[in-house]
Amino acid sequence: RAVGVVPAAFSGGQPKRGVETGPGHLIEFGLLEQLQSEDLGYEVTLDESFPPCDSLRPASDPLVGRLRNARWVSSVSQRVFSSVRDTCAKGAFALTIGGDHSVGMGTVAGSASVYGDLRVVWVDAHADINTPETTISGNLHGCPVSFLLGLGGTTNVAHFEWLRPCLTPDRIVYIGLRDLDPGEKKIIRSLGIKAFSMHEVDKWGIGRVMEMALDHIAPKRDKPIHLSFDVDALDPTVIPATGTPVRGGLTFREGHYICEALHETGLLVAMDLMEVNPLIGDQGGLLQTVSIGCGLVRSALGETLL
Ligand code: ARG
Ligand code: MN
Ligand code: MN
Ligand code: MN
Repeated sequence: RAVGVVPAAFSGGQPKRGVETGPGHLIEFGLLEQLQSEDLGYEVTLDESFPPCDSLRPASDPLVGRLRNARWVSSVSQRVFSSVRDTCAKGAFALTIGGDHSVGMGTVAGSASVYGDLRVVWVDAHADINTPETTISGNLHGCPVSFLLGLGGTTNVAHFEWLRPCLTPDRIVYIGLRDLDPGEKKIIRSLGIKAFSMHEVDKWGIGRVMEMALDHIAPKRDKPIHLSFDVDALDPTVIPATGTPVRGGLTFREGHYICEALHETGLLVAMDLMEVNPLIGDQGGLLQTVSIGCGLVRSALGETLL
């Protein structure tokens, strides 16, 4: 029972500074000790060789079409990819803490390179499935899923030659969606990607949603699963310290239930906890965000209420 932690201290996939200090705050709050505590008892290693992401920032990073910081996002994501791949190859659980969600292309590509039959649960207010053609903002944290699927020219974007499509539309499921760009809605509909938006969470309840989500990606409960959890999936009243909050999100318990249900399958091989931005909001909101963020990770790694 080993966990390898990748501190993806990165902000280049979006314009707000601060999110690169998310991993430091989670660690300072005691995340690593909590996973080592007698309740969970993991052997935890932090990838200390992970360079401060600002040190990977290129001197010049011109727009690639509409995409911003393409060179920087690519080099940090590639570094995340190697770290997650090496962690999974050792048989350890790969935990990436962020940092913005653009590096999700690296985390999932990393675990998929070890677990060929990987399934992905993407918990987020956003679908992060914009292509270089559909993106309105040009921010790459809105695009990692399209890169993983190889959609819409993503296979020919400059600097991303290292990243090859490693996922198919039937192997990913979304939970918590409520803020999609028009192009993203079209992509999800046309590819038939299974998505449980907040409407479905309201309609069925989170228990039934998790059953249906697992029935879709692993009907026999025999496939490795990567959980990519953007903290903005939770309601902003629960998680205020995040860069793109959207009202009407998951409750505290719904967020934890997702993590608990995935742990119960025994299939979880990796988790990302992304988009904690300590510079958004006040000190109380930050403490709440960081402490709930740690709780979500503990639930995914087996903490139970009883
Ligand atoms: N859809 C918007 C965009 O592409 C927002 C993406 C927000 N993504 C996130 N990881 N918080 O810019
Ligand atoms: Mn999001
Ligand atoms: Mn996201
Ligand atoms: Mn267990």
